[in-house]
Amino acid sequence: MKVAASLLASDFARLGEEVEKVSRSGADFIHVDVMDGFFVRNITMGSDIIEAIRPYASIPFDVHLMITEPSRYFTDFAGAGADIITFHAEAGSNLLNAINAVKSTGKKVGVAIKPTTLVDELLECLPMIDLAVVMTVEPGFGGQAFMPEMMSKVRVLREEIRRLRLETQIEVDGGINKETAKMAAQSGADICVAGTSIFKSSDMTQAIAGIKGV
Ligand code: DX5
Ligand code: ZN
Repeated sequence: MKVAASLLASDFARLGEEVEKVSRSGADFIHVDVMDGFFVRNITMGSDIIEAIRPYASIPFDVHLMITEPSRYFTDFAGAGADIITFHAEAGSNLLNAINAVKSTGKKVGVAIKPTTLVDELLECLPMIDLAVVMTVEPGFGGQAFMPEMMSKVRVLREEIRRLRLETQIEVDGGINKETAKMAAQSGADICVAGTSIFKSSDMTQAIAGIKGV
């Protein structure tokens, strides 16, 4: 299991230091939650902030766009230092066009689905994407409870990836801690996104190792 540390639960007054600390503590990715106050109710950070914090770690930046019309911003986030750009299937852009638009920036592409969205949205584009993101909370806020019923989506994706011999990775996002990460791993997830359980813990290294199951 790989761990993507979500900065949403970090100390925003010390973002650079938090990025450095969490990457030294064993995180595999820095997960940045970009919200526009429209696609979701919350507003977080944009590409200028990502550009400013990018030099604080060498691990890949996994940028999760919870914004309407994401295609308008792909080049901005690519230029800011994102390595993986994930947008939502529900965000309004034509799925295939948006996937190709991310690819044309030279970055890896992810597609995310909200809890109420059927897994079929991801199955359709699975061979074309690097990352399939199953939201295990309603996007918008950190610190919510994990939805175990989303694991059936993960199992369906895992089976399809196996059947088609794809290299697409499965990421679960929201409510991840040591216990819920175990359920995600058993269902076939490759990457867990965790914010609260890492940044609000007293020992980041231990929290990350716990999610990895080591
Ligand atoms: C929710 C975000 C998640 C969130 C996870 O909209 O996409 O990445 O930060 O935070 P926790 O681990 O607190 O659920
Ligand atoms: Zn996220």
